[in-house]
Formats: sequence, C-alpha cells, structure tokens
Amino acid sequence: MAKTRTSRPAGKPAQTGKHMLDLDRSVHREGLAAGFRTIQEIVIAARRNLSQSLWDTLSGGSDSETTLLRNRQALDSLALRQRVLVDVSSMDTSATLLGVKLPIPVFIAPVGNFLQLADPQGAVAVARAAAAYGTEVFISTAAKPDLETVAKAVSRPMLFQLYVRSDRAWVKDILLRARAAGYRAICVTADRAYYSRRERDLINNFILREGSGDPRYQASLTWDDVVWMKQLTGLPLILKGIATAEDARLAVEHGADVVYVSNHGGRQLDHAQGSIEVLPEVVEAVDGRAEVLMDGGITRGTDVVKAVALGARAVGLGKLQGWALAAAGEAGIVRMLELLEIEIRTTLGLMGVTSLAELNPSWVRPAQPVMPASVTNNYPYFEGRR
Ligand SMILES: Cc1cc2nc3c(=O)[nH]c(=O)nc-3n(C[C@H](O)[C@H](O)[C@H](O)COP(=O)(O)O)c2cc1C
Repeated sequence: MAKTRTSRPAGKPAQTGKHMLDLDRSVHREGLAAGFRTIQEIVIAARRNLSQSLWDTLSGGSDSETTLLRNRQALDSLALRQRVLVDVSSMDTSATLLGVKLPIPVFIAPVGNFLQLADPQGAVAVARAAAAYGTEVFISTAAKPDLETVAKAVSRPMLFQLYVRSDRAWVKDILLRARAAGYRAICVTADRAYYSRRERDLINNFILREGSGDPRYQASLTWDDVVWMKQLTGLPLILKGIATAEDARLAVEHGADVVYVSNHGGRQLDHAQGSIEVLPEVVEAVDGRAEVLMDGGITRGTDVVKAVALGARAVGLGKLQGWALAAAGEAGIVRMLELLEIEIRTTLGLMGVTSLAELNPSWVRPAQPVMPASVTNNYPYFEGRR
C-alpha cells in the first residue's frame, strides 16, 4: 500500500507573524487533500477553484487543440494485456532518473508562472510536494519565485528548465546561477522556437507573460548552443520537446543524457502526433544511449503503465500537477501522487506484473478508444458533473 506522506514534518512548530495566514491555509489544505479518494475529485475541486480563464490557460492547447486531444486519443488507443495467477503480493514500482530513485515512474514537469497564479507559494509549493513524496521536479525559467528561492525551500537537488531570453551572456549567467543553487541537471526546452497561438487565452484576453526578454533568442537556438550549455555547466543535459527519431539521434550525438519526448502538452505545434505515438520511434533511435522520458496527456496510472511499456523511463505531469495545486496546494500534489501510486500498483497487480522491468511493448495492443478525446475524458465522474 502507498505510504501516507505529509508535506510538513510532524511536530514542526506553527509559525507566527506574517506567515501565519499561509500556514493556516496549508493546514486547511492538507486536511482537505486527505479527503480526496480519487484523482477525479481533485480535478473537480480544481475546476471549482479556478476562474474560467485560469482553467483555460492550464487545460487548453494551441490553435484547434488537435495535438492536445491527440495526446489523450493516442493513449486511449492502447489496451493493456493481463496475465493471471502470478504472485503479485509484493511489487517494485520504482524507477530511476539520472541515478536518482523515484517511488513511481512519475515526475513533475516544468510549469511556468501559472503556478503562482494558482497558489501564492508557486513553484515552492510544487518543489516541496515533490520532495515530500520523493520524486523529481523540473523548475521552469518562467516559474516564480526565482530559482534560488525555490532551491532553498527544499534540501533535494532539482532539475532546471531553461528558456532562452537573451544572448549567451544572459544564458551563461542563469545556468551558472542554477548550478550554484544546486540544480543537478539542465533541461533545454526545444519545442518553443515560437510562442504558439493559444486561442483560449487570446479570446479571454488573458495574456500570461512568461517573463521578459527577446523571443528571437529562443527562436535562433540550435544544436551548437546546447553543446555549449553542457560544456559550460558540466551538468547532465536533458532535451525536452523531442518528437522524431531524427531529432532523437541528433540529441544523443550532441551529448543529451536524457531525451524527453514532449509536444508541450499540446500547447505548441498543433496537428502534431500524440506523445505516446512518437515514443516507440524515439526509443528505437536512442537505442539505450540516453534515458527517455515522456509527457503529454498523462492523467492516470494506466497511462503511466502504457508509457513505461513502450520504453519511457518515467513520465511527466503538467496539467495534472496544475489541477492538484489548484485543488489543495502543496498537499494536493502530494495526495495526487499517492493516488497515482495506488492506481499504478493496482494496474500492475491486475496485469500480473511485479516490477516495471518486466514491462515491454508486448503488454499493449492497439484498441479503439471508447470515448471522444478530451483532457478530462479519463474522469467519467468529473465529465458527468460538467
Ligand atoms: C500551465 C502550463 C505551463 C507550462 N510551462 C512550461 C514551462 O515553463 N516550460 C516547459 O518546458 N514546459 C512547460 N509546460 C509544458 C509541460 O512541461 C509539459 O510538457 C506538458 O504540460 C505535459 O503535458 P500534460 O499537461 O498533458 O501533462 C507547461 C504546461 C502547462 C500546462
């Protein structure tokens, strides 16, 4: 069974003074989070807590939202196979990411300044939740508060995600700041050469400025730049936004330690393939020379198991992280991860699998989706309440 992890050490004295309100709020939220028995209740709470424009900016995608929906449709187009009469009374759900053990093959993907709009603690709440549960978290250049403040809030090293906002002197400065603050790897997001057209935000007049800077620097990024960044920092390099075998091969040739399959959760190139559709060709192209991560549409334990079966070492959560934060802050994220762990254990147990190492593509089969794709189609109770 999943252990109950609390996000605040037992017996930690209550703070007084200006932080009192925040603490009251987090205690309240911990109590609230403990009451969630399912992930769908978390999503229902998030929908209730978020304004229409915040819900849209978190849950929507670019243009026609075809990529956004394909992430879900592609996951729903896979069925799991099951074997029976296997002793599944004990099970190992752990995975590793660049040498660090995760309790389940799930990490927190980089999310920008949405976090602070959903919760005043912003990225600090997310970092603390990830540390309390024991998993990895990417901290975005666009997240607030700044990377040093987030690093000071937890004792566990994290992964820094870079957006390029200015010239090499600026990049050098921020990467060396991240290294000095203890981040253990750098992640370059490569699928945002242009900021996409997020029409929900445009129609809602919701202009979320993901920081200042000149967008031409991000647009002019090339393979030479990532080689330079790795040499500069001496840190492991994660390339996020890889979606073809060709780029996966180039990523490895240019020194990527991790190839991170992603279409930005359907928020960048529209009419792309679903993430899990491109995962097999990337895994084949990488051929064990780097670790392969994936994100896009993961909302349940069954999704996680499908991605691991097709070769992902671990999967990232974007929207689900945002929903859990909006539902109950730091404690909401911890609870969501606990529930995901329960779902993964139940799924593996019913498949007759006792360790993630047993999973391979033979555990999945093509299948007809049973419902139209939507970002929340995995939550029938939520859908029924809309
Ligand atoms: C509100 C929001 C903000 C995001 N901000 C960033 C970011 O700052 N940097 C980045 O690399 N990806 C960002 N992403 C993309 C996520 O890291 C991730 O690739 C994506 O959300 C995964 O798909 P999912 O939302 O379906 O889980 C963001 C996603 C969302 C939903």
